Amino acid sequence: MLLDLAWALSRPLIFRLDAEEAHRAVMARAAAVGPAGLGLLRALAGAPAGPPLRVAGVQLRGPVGLAAGLDKDGEAIPVWDALGFGFMEVGTVTPRPQAGNPQPRLFRLVDERAIINRMGFNNHGLPALVPRLRALREQGRWPAAPVGANIGKNKDTPNDEAEADYVACAAALRGLADWFTVNVSSPNTPGLRALQEPGRLGALLERTVAAARDTPVLLKLAPDLEPDALAEAVGVAVRAGCAGVVATNTTLSRPGETARCPEAGGLSGAPLWPLAFERIGQAVDAAAGRVPVIGVGGVSSAAQARALLERGCAAVQVYTGFIYEGPGLPGRLHRALQSGEQARIEKRGD
Ligand SMILES: Cc1cc2nc3c(=O)[nH]c(=O)nc-3n(C[C@H](O)[C@H](O)[C@H](O)COP(=O)(O)O)c2cc1C
Repeated sequence: MLLDLAWALSRPLIFRLDAEEAHRAVMARAAAVGPAGLGLLRALAGAPAGPPLRVAGVQLRGPVGLAAGLDKDGEAIPVWDALGFGFMEVGTVTPRPQAGNPQPRLFRLVDERAIINRMGFNNHGLPALVPRLRALREQGRWPAAPVGANIGKNKDTPNDEAEADYVACAAALRGLADWFTVNVSSPNTPGLRALQEPGRLGALLERTVAAARDTPVLLKLAPDLEPDALAEAVGVAVRAGCAGVVATNTTLSRPGETARCPEAGGLSGAPLWPLAFERIGQAVDAAAGRVPVIGVGGVSSAAQARALLERGCAAVQVYTGFIYEGPGLPGRLHRALQSGEQARIEKRGD
C-alpha cells in the first residue's frame, strides 16, 4: 500500500526523465540501499506468500520473478529480494565489458504500456559481476530469492566463436549463480538470434551445460520464432541437457498502435502479451513436461500471471510491467496468486 503510494508520487517525476537516465538514477539509488532501507522495503513489500516451489532444480521463493536486463550487472540484488520477487535474473552479462549501442536506445511508449529497447548488451562484463556475486555469497548476504545469470556473447565475437563466450560465462559464474539462462534471443546484437538455429544451438548448449557442471542451464527464446522453429529449439534444448526454457524475449514486430513508433529495437510490455502468450503455450506443448517453462512477456496483472501458470508455466517473470506498475507489483502478484490458490483449495474441500 505505502509502496504503491510512494510509486504514485514518484512515477511522474521519474517518467519526466529520459528513460535511460531514469533507469540509471533509480539503479544508483537501489544499489546504495543499506540494511535499514532493505528492512523497510521488506516490511512494506511483504515476503511472497505461499509455499516455495522447485523449478529446474532451483528452489524459488515464489512464482513471480524479475526478468533479465533490468539489473545487468547485479548491482541491486538485495533490493529485488526485499521487494518480494520470488527469483531474479541478472545480466545479460558478456565475458568482456561493452558499451552497447549508441544512445538514445531506450524508449517508453507510455500509452501502450510498452518499451522499445536496443540497448545491445551494455554491461560491465564478468570482471564486475563475478566479484559482486562472490562478495554476496562470502558475506552471507545471498538473498532468499535465488539469482540466475543470463549469459550472452560480446558483440565483436563472431558467431562461429560464440560458444566460447557462453562457456567462459558459465565457467566463471558456476558456484555463484543459482542457474544460467542462455540468451540467444535478444534482437539487438547483430546475428545473435541466428544462434537459435538447431544446428548451432545444440553444440552451443551442450558445451555450456558441460561448463556449468551442476548449475542448471535454461534457454531463452524469441517470440519471433515461428511455431515449428520454436518447438525444434525446445527439443534441441531438452536433448542438450537444459533444465528449462524461458519464453519469451522482446519482439521485433510492432502490434497495434506501437507501429506508429519509428524506433528500432525489441518491443516489450502490454502489446507483447498476445504473441508471448501464444508462443509460451507452444513452448509448454513442445516441452511436454520434460522441462519446465518460465513464461515472460507483457505480464502486469495477477490474471495474466495466473493464465500463464494455468497454461502450464512453472513460473513467470516481469520487466516492463514492473516499470509501469512500480515496486509493489511482485508482492501484489504473489498475494493475488496465493489467495486465488487458497480459494480453489477451499472450493475443492467443500
Ligand atoms: C530495457 C530492456 C532490456 C532488456 N535486456 C535484456 C537482456 O539483457 N537479456 C535478456 O535476456 N532479456 C532482456 N530483456 C527482455 C526481458 O527480460 C523480457 O524477456 C521482455 O522484456 C519481455 O517481458 P516484459 O514484457 O515483462 O518486459 C530486456 C527488456 C527490456 C525492456
